[in-house]
Parts: sequence; structure tokens; C-alpha cells
Amino acid sequence: MSGIYFHIPFCKQLCHYCAFHKSISLQAKERMLICLKKELKNRKDYLKGENIDSIYFGGGTPSVYSPTEIQSLIDEVALHFTINKDVEITLEANPDDLNRDYLKALKESSVNRLSVGIQSFHDEDLILMNRRHTGQQAYDAIKRAQAYGFDNISVDQIYGVPGLTVEKWEENLKKVFELNIQHISSYHLMYDPNTVFTHKLKKGILKEVEEEVSLAQYKHLISEAQKHGFVHYEISNFSKPGLESRHNSNYWKQKMYLGLGPSAHSYNINRREWNVSDNLKYMNAIEKGGEYSEYEELSFNDKFNDYVLTSLRTMWGLNLDIIKKEFGESYHKHCLEKADKYIQSNDVRIENSHIILTDKGVFISNDVMSDFFFIEE
Ligand SMILES: C[S@@+](CC[C@H](N)C(=O)[O-])C[C@H]1O[C@@H](n2cnc3c(N)ncnc32)[C@H](O)[C@@H]1O
Ligand code: SF4
Repeated sequence: MSGIYFHIPFCKQLCHYCAFHKSISLQAKERMLICLKKELKNRKDYLKGENIDSIYFGGGTPSVYSPTEIQSLIDEVALHFTINKDVEITLEANPDDLNRDYLKALKESSVNRLSVGIQSFHDEDLILMNRRHTGQQAYDAIKRAQAYGFDNISVDQIYGVPGLTVEKWEENLKKVFELNIQHISSYHLMYDPNTVFTHKLKKGILKEVEEEVSLAQYKHLISEAQKHGFVHYEISNFSKPGLESRHNSNYWKQKMYLGLGPSAHSYNINRREWNVSDNLKYMNAIEKGGEYSEYEELSFNDKFNDYVLTSLRTMWGLNLDIIKKEFGESYHKHCLEKADKYIQSNDVRIENSHIILTDKGVFISNDVMSDFFFIEE
């Protein structure tokens, strides 16, 4: 099974924390759609004939395209690949695009999962973030999507934001659980380079929240999610049982994926590739048959480190049998030695030959993962 990712590199407004590749000029929307279809056709052999079980429209803002345009991309996938009957097709959508007409038409398309960027229900946070919607509009958009029959909805939220107290975060979570949705992605705010937030941080206009506030917010998130029947299946992701994001799980389980569009990444076990993060360069190259991507052949060690990074993030953990079979005795021994230290400190446990982060270990996941890396001398 493999996945296809479309990067839709347009946004109507720039959020002040976000460094994902996008342009706020929508002029090239039509041209981009043609280029995406062309790239899809050019790279139809990339996934080596595997069936597709996940199609993901991410961005940027995929909901800048009409449901008909989105469906035309799905139809193009069907022309070149075999799509599984139970395929998961996710559209990332901004709440302010989810009006009645849009939802009605989208429900008639093959999209069967929505991922909606809520971020916060507090208007002062949304203003700080430069979002295009209010908290109430975001809440109503989810309700409307449900009324139109969408029954697999994920929301994105951000915590660790300046001004977001623990009490305000608790209110955000209360509202999210009230909505009876199936999936939650909750990210700690990252100060990415070249964002307004990072600029304001450097100028002293914004101040990072205290570590204990972040930690309290994360702990509250984990316990409330558990209380409401969500499975904490990856550091930042929670779902109702069986409704984990297949797209993300494919990444974490090291399945192949083909990424189309500017800045999109692809992976086919031996190589990672990434497209140029520039709309014009991408479209010119696609149209004229030029280069628009770079790649890296993965060494044996890279593959091991990738496996550590992706598997330890998840509740399924790092499979010691896979390590032994695919990487050999010395890597297996290395993992057991590393695990030993963290078992003592109760940061990991071993269950059915899998090394899994404990709830305590999740808080220091980056340190644990980098300690497991095999560094070539
Ligand atoms: C690439 S965005 C696309 C979603 C959609 N455009 C929207 O804004 O609703 C996916 C998610 O990444 C998260 N995100 C982006 N930048 C972030 C940052 N610097 N720190 C934490 N989360 C971030 C946001 O929660 C956002 O909804
Ligand atoms: S968070 Fe979404 S809408 Fe905002 S700039 Fe990033 S991709 Fe665009």
C-alpha cells in the first residue's frame, strides 16, 4: 500500500507562525492544476505498481480549489494508479472555506476525510496568529461539515502560544471534545525561521511560554483525550480507535509515498526526493521538461535512523524483530543497550518485542530518538 500527497501551495492570507511553502497570489491556480496532473503522469511508475490506499491534499490551503477541481485530481490518480476501494482521501480545509455550497459539492466528490485548521477557539489568539476566521466560525464550520455527512473529521490545534493560558487551553479542548470529531492533531507552537512570530520573538515583542505551561497543556491534552476515548497514537496525534490518519501512519510505518507539487517530498524506500519550493520554478520545469527536484540515496545507516525516528514516535513503537531481520545483530544489540537506560528511567518499555515510549518518555521523545540514532564514525 502506498500514498499520494498533493501540495497545494496557495493561501488567501499568511498565518504569522507558518513556514509551510505557499504563495498568497492565487493567479497561477489553474496553471498549477495542470502541472500537478502532468507531474502525476510523469511519475506514475514511482510507486512500483503498488495500490493506493491514501490520497492527501495538504498545503497551503487545498480548499482554495473547488470540489470539482479536487475531484479532477483524484480522477487523474485513478487514470494512472490502482486505488483501493476503501481509500482514505483527506482534504485539509480552512474553516472559512467550508460554506454550505462548498460542503455540499465536496460531499459529492470522493473526499471522505476532512482536516480542519482550528488552531484556537479564542479570537485574541486567532488575531495574533493572523487567521482568517473567528473561534465561532471554526466551531460552526465543523458542525456544518457534520450536517452535510462528513463523519471522519480531524482538527488541528496549537498550544504553547503566547497568551494561551492553561485555562484557555482547557476551554479549547472542552470545545473540541464537544464537537464529537474523530481525530485531533495538537502541535506545540514552533518558531520557524522566516515567520512573523520568529521576527517578533527576536525583537522581544513575543515571549516564549514557560516550559511548565507547555508541559501542563500537553499533559492535560493527553489525559482529556484518553477520557474521551481517543487513542494517543503518535506524539501529536489522537484518534478514535481505528481512525488514525492513514496518510500519516504510512509515513510513520515507512510505506512509500509520492509527493506532488512544489516543496512536496517523496519516499520509495531507497530514496528521498523533494521538489523545489518555488511555484514558478516548479511550473516552468514541469512545462518545459526541466529539473524540479533533488534527491538523496539513503545509506543503510540512514534507513536505520529513519526507522528509529518514525517508529518511536508512534504507539506501535520500534519493532526489534524488524531491526534484527532488516538491519542485523549489531543494530539489534545497539537498540537493546539504548533501551536499557530508558527502561531504568521509565521512559520506554518493551512489549512483544517492541520498544515503546511511556507517557513519561513522550515528554523527552526528541532526546530519546536522537540517542537511539546510529552515528557513523
Ligand atoms: C500546513 S497547515 C495546513 C492547514 C490549513 N491551511 C489551515 O491552516 O487550516 C497544517 C497545520 O500545521 C500546523 N502548524 C503550521 N505551522 C506551525 C507552527 N509553526 N507550529 C505549530 N503548528 C504549526 C497548524 O496547526 C496547521 O493547521
Ligand atoms: S496555517 Fe494554513 S492557512 Fe495559515 S499560512 Fe499555513 S498553510 Fe496557510
